[in-house]
Amino acid sequence: MFEVLPLLPPDPILGLSAAFKADNNPKKIDLGVGVYKNEQGHTPILSSVAKAQKILLAKEDSKTYISPQGVQGYIDGMLELMLGQGNKVLLADRVAAVQAPGGCGALRILSELLKRCNDKLTVWVSDPTWANHVPLIGNAGLNIETYPYFNKQDASINFDAMVSCLEKVKKGDVVLLHGCCHNPTGADLTKQQWQKVLELAQQRGFIPFIDIAYLGFGDGIEEDAYGLRLLVNNLPEVLIAASCSKNFGLYRERVGLAAMITSDSHIRKAIQSQIQAIARGIYSMPPSYGGALVDIILSDADLRQEWKQEVEAMRARMKDLRALLVNKLAEKGASRDFSFVNQQKGMFSYLCITPEQVQEVRSKHSVYFVDSSRVNIAGISKRNVDELASALVSVL
Ligand code: LMR
Repeated sequence: MFEVLPLLPPDPILGLSAAFKADNNPKKIDLGVGVYKNEQGHTPILSSVAKAQKILLAKEDSKTYISPQGVQGYIDGMLELMLGQGNKVLLADRVAAVQAPGGCGALRILSELLKRCNDKLTVWVSDPTWANHVPLIGNAGLNIETYPYFNKQDASINFDAMVSCLEKVKKGDVVLLHGCCHNPTGADLTKQQWQKVLELAQQRGFIPFIDIAYLGFGDGIEEDAYGLRLLVNNLPEVLIAASCSKNFGLYRERVGLAAMITSDSHIRKAIQSQIQAIARGIYSMPPSYGGALVDIILSDADLRQEWKQEVEAMRARMKDLRALLVNKLAEKGASRDFSFVNQQKGMFSYLCITPEQVQEVRSKHSVYFVDSSRVNIAGISKRNVDELASALVSVL
């Protein structure tokens, strides 16, 4: 039976980790998978998370199944964090939500929900977008199209082209937007641009599907929720896939949230039953552990404060690393101005070099990042920036 299936190429992002591990160069640099790292190149457990683990260990007294929607305290805490306390859609009982196994799990079950609603709809994704959006949405059987987003030539958002495209999107189609810290480009919409997207959604009748995996890594937790809140507060229907991998550092625990803003409470109940049935048909219910940790952190004033400070510290460090790289590239005499990297937000930057240049820097200098030219800013450190900049300058 199995011989009909061919060997597949490595995953464009996860495959880089395996290639990096196999490289014997002691000076190798990993800017591939989007994982936060400290100055020592280590991904630590956040102190707030370590404390929550102790609390959970002391209080958890059973491993029986949790409810199908997941840890309710986690769901409530995350919705409040993203939408803001006392949001009218929460008060109006218009939000269906389930804990999901990671942001990926959320994207997939929401795609399955879309298919149940209308299997003819198209999901519009930005060009470029996170490489895994395409299999996650496409494997649910949905049609995918792209809208222009980023212009590599001048390293900026091509908003006019994006608007021209969205002006033609059909009623009932879905537009996938990155809530903040766009992956892979790090180029985010301004407040005015979010306003225009809202107006287009209102005029055209398309439904925004917001993927938010980096809340707090751009300008701050409240600031990064701006676009999401604008759309949620002014449209009848919005889908949200959220992840706690990055901002809680809970990568391997697979903690995500799928939320659906519905037009009224009656529909909310139906959609809640649908999304739970979809989850039941794939993995039954989410793992409890990571959601229980986030619940503990968000519901304890001191731990919540400590977590916010930790997010702030990660955000500030990544901002500093951007400046460090830009300055080092200039110091090494780069033939191109990379100051656009300072304007980009969050964990990723698009260096806007060619795939050939990316492969050359990998093969000659053991610097690993995605072929698109996306680098994980958190992989830069004071120890490796000098060699990184020299390697990049040598391939320009
Ligand atoms: C990334 O974009 O590198 C991360 O979100 C990890 C992944 O699953 O691709």
